[in-house]
Amino acid sequence: MDSGLENVVAAETVLSDVDGQNGRLVICGWPVELLAASMAYEDAAHLLWREFFDDLPDVRTLGARLGAARAEVFRHVQALPEALDVIAALRVGWAMLPDDESLEAALRLAAAGPVFTAAAVRRARGEAPIAPDPDLSHSADFLRMLTGRVPDQSEARALDAYLVTVCDHGLNASTFAARVIASTRAGLVSSVVGGLSALKGPLHGGAPGPVLDMIDAIGVPENAEAWIDGALARGDRLMGFGHRVYRVRDPRADALKAALARLPGTSGRIRFAEHIERAVLGRLAKKYPQRKLETNVEFYTALLLEALGLPREAFTPVFACGRVLGWTAHAREQIAEGRLVRPRSVYRGAVPVPA
Ligand code: ACO
Repeated sequence: MDSGLENVVAAETVLSDVDGQNGRLVICGWPVELLAASMAYEDAAHLLWREFFDDLPDVRTLGARLGAARAEVFRHVQALPEALDVIAALRVGWAMLPDDESLEAALRLAAAGPVFTAAAVRRARGEAPIAPDPDLSHSADFLRMLTGRVPDQSEARALDAYLVTVCDHGLNASTFAARVIASTRAGLVSSVVGGLSALKGPLHGGAPGPVLDMIDAIGVPENAEAWIDGALARGDRLMGFGHRVYRVRDPRADALKAALARLPGTSGRIRFAEHIERAVLGRLAKKYPQRKLETNVEFYTALLLEALGLPREAFTPVFACGRVLGWTAHAREQIAEGRLVRPRSVYRGAVPVPA
């Protein structure tokens, strides 16, 4: 038995390779650093989906169809209950879409992520949702639907870098959940809603909000060591550090730090974050000398999304807007290659009393 399934290989994939010993991530043949520095969201969608949809158009047409799908799904915004927090709004919104295994379903899911996330953020602030502009790029339109202003190129580029960096990552918990659901032939919408539900937890994609809480609670560099010691003494986990697979630094941390550094006005925040990062790594190395705990993707995610003006309750939904590409591609791969996923358990319960 392996309760965390650490040593279990449950799928073959052409989508991504996570090399935890050497800190390398390859997505469809591309090192993540290169992907982050050069690809837009539309390119990544094409890259991840190209093996799995016979009717996939070229990148340009795919971008246009994504824009049209954003406009189409906006009508569902009015059906979203106003009281929902951002992640619940995304979950409910996605669940309202027609559930099948088609390219149309995948397009609607990818398109709906920014539409529902931006609408929920604005409603929480007491502002009216903004309708999509299908002529903008996916990332530029996402930021425009949040702020009401067409972002400059560096901002749209930074969001592209983020979404592309997190678009896929092997058989992580949410992708595994999505594949299990796909294996029952429930449909892409069901897979994605299941993936989102797994992503939400603080041990997976729910960490970047708490990363920012930690940075804010530390406040000034001189407080870092004492704050970290206090958290570790309480038995808290330091968010943005440690990983099930990586035994070295998560390569996505540097891809996102580079994207953050390309945004104007971020150098002071980066210096402060680096100070905290060094302090955390030093303390973790002392506490767990046998276990290499390093910076993971969530640490610089928090700083990048903050620099783009996103509120922290939107961090996990924005993560999902990137990862939806991987969930849908994995779901299609599971449908094409895999079987119903059905592991076994060992019974440790009461034994029936003989009559
Ligand atoms: N802070 C403090 N202690 C930690 C941390 C951390 N960030 N990470 C691991 N540890 C401790 C564990 O508590 C455990 O201690 P114990 O033996 O005394 O119980 C020990 O280090 C070994 O833990 P691992 O076996 O490496 O942890 P595991 O593989 O089960 O968990 C996980 C990995 C969940 C990511 C963990 O490192 C963690 O909780 N990190 C903080 C949350 C976080 O950043 N999550 C985002 C991950 S990236 C992603 O999913 C997109």
